[in-house]
Amino acid sequence: MTDATPAVPDESLSIRDNRTGEEYTVPIVDGAIRAADLGKIGKTEDEPGLVSYDPGFTNTASTRSSVTFIDGEKGILEYRGYPIEQLAEHSNYLEVAYLLINGELPTKEQYDAWEHEITFHTFVHENIKSLMQGFRYDAHPMGMLLSGVGGLSTFYPEARNISDPEVRHLQIVRMIAKMPTLGAWAFRHAQGKPYVYPDNDLSYAENFLAMLFKMSEPKFEADPRLAKALEILFILHADHEQNASANAVRSVGSTQVDPYSSLSAGIAALYGPLHGGANEAVLRMLRRIGDVSNVPAFIEGVKAGDERLMGFGHRVYKNYDPRATIIKKACDDVFEVTGVNPLLKIAVELEKIALEDEYFVKRKLYPNVDFYSGLIYEALQFPPEMFTVLFAIPRTAGWLAQWVELVDDKEQKIARPKQIYTGGRQLTFTPREQRWA
Ligand SMILES: CC(C)(COP(=O)(O)OP(=O)(O)OC[C@H]1O[C@@H](n2cnc3c(N)ncnc32)[C@H](O)[C@@H]1OP(=O)(O)O)[C@@H](O)C(=O)NCCC(=O)NCCS
Repeated sequence: MTDATPAVPDESLSIRDNRTGEEYTVPIVDGAIRAADLGKIGKTEDEPGLVSYDPGFTNTASTRSSVTFIDGEKGILEYRGYPIEQLAEHSNYLEVAYLLINGELPTKEQYDAWEHEITFHTFVHENIKSLMQGFRYDAHPMGMLLSGVGGLSTFYPEARNISDPEVRHLQIVRMIAKMPTLGAWAFRHAQGKPYVYPDNDLSYAENFLAMLFKMSEPKFEADPRLAKALEILFILHADHEQNASANAVRSVGSTQVDPYSSLSAGIAALYGPLHGGANEAVLRMLRRIGDVSNVPAFIEGVKAGDERLMGFGHRVYKNYDPRATIIKKACDDVFEVTGVNPLLKIAVELEKIALEDEYFVKRKLYPNVDFYSGLIYEALQFPPEMFTVLFAIPRTAGWLAQWVELVDDKEQKIARPKQIYTGGRQLTFTPREQRWA
């Protein structure tokens, strides 16, 4: 946009292209400039305009979103404007899922209908069971979940009709309902135990626990403290704005593929150790430290740059991750049932020392959600490979909320970034026979 008028609007950015001396004024809306406005800078018939280079999208907004708000400096996390602390204390996962996806808390009628629908879509087609059973005995449960969700798209071909709100709603219900079934079956598979069918008399968390742990008893009764702790963990993991997996769901969803396929892209992203694997690394670290007396030496090693204190620091939070505070409290309830995980003492000591230490204070390194969650999962007898599955199940609500927002957003286009080409040009191809002669 060329600055032809003398009065430059306050909410704008003036840019002078020193290559040409040309000046541009770019509007600032909601603290952002449009990358497309940069494209007008320096554009000629022969040259493309300016692009911004941002590997990993560290300073690029890909969407407008009203799903989740994070203020990393202040340690604030809100779903649809409601603070995570209030939701964790007073709500349950299904209500939070409804809130995330629909934008508002449900009325009693809406909640009852939602709970009923989810509860009665927990079963999966028997052929999906055969698909799961076809995996090797030692298959990673996350790989099984990924394939299971991808496979569901073939059972519901109508799902590709993403512009029909009723069709969309049904797939959303199916996905939230079936994820615990697939996750629990992946867990049972690794143990060589028979898969347990859903029990529609139970709540979302109780049913999941039953599918995980039921043996020969006619009715599995989960300890209410464990079911409650699981609800809390599910609420805390339900969404986290434009993280890597949400971005994967949106990117794949922008092709207008069905939501099962979009969601499996999110699961694939979460499978990566940089995204969903940190709590496992925390456990490994705590085991290696072994005893509270070894904590000071370990901290010295971290400060000397030998390694990182896993479960500390966050790309967004430069303050205490609000989810870590809530999880720490949930630890007490779980350990009351399961007995205290001996690694907890080491974790508490690490946190105490790190929070007082200049190295961590100066770098704004605080415990993140993964610092304590692994301890709870281990106390609940989950092997580390299940940790990401336990993350993927609740994150389904967030992925779907992000997906619905994408589908309804008139501004969204197929995700197709630019590149800065660094390869050769106009080379002459020599056929193999001549090259290899
Ligand atoms: C999460 C994480 C990747 C965020 O990284 P980031 O925002 O890119 O921060 P940086 O890697 O640039 O680190 C900034 C500084 O803090 C230090 N730092 C960051 N996390 C640290 C940690 N966990 N332990 C020790 N030092 C750490 C870095 O060494 C760097 O120090 P320097 O300025 O002296 O070089 C990083 O904090 C980390 O690796 N944490 C441990 C893994 C983890 O818990 N991941 C789960 C996240 S939910």
